[in-house]
Order: sequence, then C-alpha cells, then structure tokens
Amino acid sequence: MLVAVLEKRRSLTQALAQRPAGSAPPALVQELCYGVMRFLPRLDRLAAELLKRPLKRRDRDIHALILTGLYQLTEMRTAEHAAVAETVEAARRLRKPWAAALINGVLRGFLRRREALMAALDAADEGALACPGWLLDAFRAAWPDDWRSIAAALNQRPPMTLRVNRRQIGPDEYIASLADAGLAARPAPHAPEGVILERPVAVEALPGFGSGQVSVQDAGAQLAARLLRLAPAQHVLDACAAPGGKSCHLLEIAPAGVRLTAVDVDADRLRRVRDNLDRLRLEAEVVEGDALHPAGEWGRRRYDRILLDAPCSATGVIRRHPDIKALRRPSDISALAVRQAAMLDAMWSLLAPGGMLLYATCSLLPEENEMQIVDFLKRRKDAREAPLDDAWGHPRAAGRQTLPGEDSMDGFYYALLVKRP
Ligand SMILES: C[S@@+](CC[C@H](N)C(=O)[O-])C[C@H]1O[C@@H](n2cnc3c(N)ncnc32)[C@H](O)[C@@H]1O
Repeated sequence: MLVAVLEKRRSLTQALAQRPAGSAPPALVQELCYGVMRFLPRLDRLAAELLKRPLKRRDRDIHALILTGLYQLTEMRTAEHAAVAETVEAARRLRKPWAAALINGVLRGFLRRREALMAALDAADEGALACPGWLLDAFRAAWPDDWRSIAAALNQRPPMTLRVNRRQIGPDEYIASLADAGLAARPAPHAPEGVILERPVAVEALPGFGSGQVSVQDAGAQLAARLLRLAPAQHVLDACAAPGGKSCHLLEIAPAGVRLTAVDVDADRLRRVRDNLDRLRLEAEVVEGDALHPAGEWGRRRYDRILLDAPCSATGVIRRHPDIKALRRPSDISALAVRQAAMLDAMWSLLAPGGMLLYATCSLLPEENEMQIVDFLKRRKDAREAPLDDAWGHPRAAGRQTLPGEDSMDGFYYALLVKRP
C-alpha cells in the first residue's frame, strides 16, 4: 500500500481500499500507513542515513518496510525486539529473504545510534517538523509567525468531528445520546451543529448514523453553509460538490424553499453525494458536469448563491490526509491556481446580479486563496468582497483562513463575493 502511494502516486484512501484480503489487521495497517506518511520526511532521512546505498527501484517494497520499522521504533510504543522481528519477517513474506539481513542491520543500526541520529534530524526544520522542504518554505513565506505551529499541527491526529442533522435532532440532544452509548463528546466552537468526539469510533457505532442523524465533517468545513447567508426560496449551486459534505449541511439548515443543484466532474464521487443525500433524507438535483465549462440546463441558469469549493492542494487537511506530503509537488500549486481562476470566472457568469459566491479551499497557500480573490476583484468590476464573521480564523488580504488545529479545525480558506446588481 505504501508503495502504491510512494511510487504510483495513488492516494492512501484508494490504496487502503484495495488492500489484499487476509493481510494484517486493518487497524494496524491503517496506523502504520498513516504514521509513515505523517512522518515521511523524517523517516526518509533516517533511512537514507542508515542505508549504505539507496535500494533499487524494484525493491521499493523493502524501502517501505524499513520506513514502517523506523516508524514503529520512533513514534510507536512497539517493543524494540518486536518491531525489528516483525519487519524482518515481513521481508520473508514478500519472498525477499535476502532483505531480512539488510532490514535487521538497518533497524539495529538505528537502535545503536538512536540518540545521535535523532539529534541530527531535529537540528534541521524539515526533519524536526516532518515537512517537505518546499512546503515548509511556502508556509514560512505565507505565515511568518505561524509556520512552525502550522507544520507541527499537521502532524497531529485530528479529532473526529460530527455534524448533527438539525432536521432530525439538536446538538445537545445528540450529545446526550452519545453519552448513553458511552461516547464522550463536546460541542465544537464556531460550528453550531459540530460535535467533537473524545475518541474516534467507527461510524457504525454512532447512534442514528444510518438513519441520518449525523455525519462526519470537520468543524472548519462546517463554516461554509452559514457563510452563504441563505434566504428562503433561493436556488443554490454547489459547483464542486462531491462527496457532498457542504451540500448536505446547507440543506440541513436551509430556510424554506431553498433548492440545490450539486455538480461534480467525477461520476464516482457523485455517487457518494447521492448516498449522503439519501441517508440524510435530503433532496437535491445532482448533475455530472464540469465547472470549467458549464453546459446543459444547469449551465444556463442563474443562481442566487454559488459555493465554489475548488479543487486545491489540500495543504490545510494534511493531518487527515498525510499522504499529501508525498503526493504534492511544488509545480502542482501554480497549475491548481490557473484552474481555480478559470473556475471562478466560469462560475461568476452563472451568478445572478445581487447574488453571492462563496470561494472555499482547504489550502493554506496564498496562491490558491487570497491572491486568487485579490486578482479576481481586480479583473471583475462587478464584484465586491463581503465581510466574514471575525470570530474565527485569521484575516487575509481578502477572505479569512482557519489554521489546522486552532479551535479543533482543519485549515480552510473562505472569501465571500457579491455581484453588483
Ligand atoms: C474539495 S472537493 C469538494 C468537497 C465538497 N464540497 C464537500 O464538502 O464534500 C473538490 C471537488 O471538486 C471536484 N472537481 C474537480 N474539478 C472539477 C471540475 N472541473 N468541475 C466540477 N468539479 C470538479 C472534484 O471531483 C472534487 O470532488
């Protein structure tokens, strides 16, 4: 699975979903995969230091094994002898018995030189903060006072945050039903439907999950629905809707008569929108479409509200998707920014005069966020920025940003634009 991410650039979610049956227990596999990705820049440096020469490309599975062994020795409480023995045994299971001695040597070498190796790692920011150098440079430039705490927060395990479906139950009542099920929880700050669990659990263990009382959604993502300032009978377009978290939330709290058109370019992901709408007993028009090239009936209408939750680097949600550290390249950012600007222009043409467009990303990088909006306001004289609630996040040159870990939220960017009548 790690090789699929590191070599084939698949997401960890995809790689775990394709896990061969009969391999190690999912909880342990998950812990190892997420942990290795979270600390990859540290573990890679350690492995490079310990291996006399890099392994051949065809032996990337052995390299991945070494990373899991080092992860267990540095970040988990696995007994040293067990971590070494299990990793060596895994090489035999891969039918590469020659690698058993190599792995044994590397891991024992680490244990012998642990103190000096860890001190060398911690002496450089990239190693100490387990963050790729290019990304750390970008954080440093964008967040001169916060870059260290941002990088550190991205290594934390995020809380499991829920969104209570107000159409069915209120947050206080739901917290009481969680307590009855033996699950401790507290209200999320700034997110009126948000509930933070003390400990993550499988969704099947959540009371009323199947019947739509609750969904899993970060509290930062829950800000979007209210920022849209919905009024009765408005028609809303969610232009990048899948898997439907923000779409469903806005329907759950919408005033009477609000209609929603949920568009996404990805047919597979759209299925998840339909599943979520069904589970939550909500209704929307769900359309496969391209927000860069609006076409068909949805592309001819004018909407009162548009949510553009643009595809982005996802640097604000690395604590939930640590594989982003391995998957993103610096060149992705400029390519994403070009697409985001084109999407903003295309969606603006579908906004009714007097309407509002909420631009959102889960990025921490200005190129995808405030620079995008500042440039847009320069080129569109019929656009102005509307102020956002200042109770949460940080003001930027335009819009506001939540930072990962602050108020238990992921890193989200929001800007609200109004079209002059
Ligand atoms: C950040 S995710 C949206 C998350 C969603 N709003 C939610 O809250 O659950 C971005 C989405 O944009 C979609 N997307 C990417 N390019 C697109 C395009 N050209 N047109 C429409 N959707 C697109 C992706 O398939 C992905 O589902």
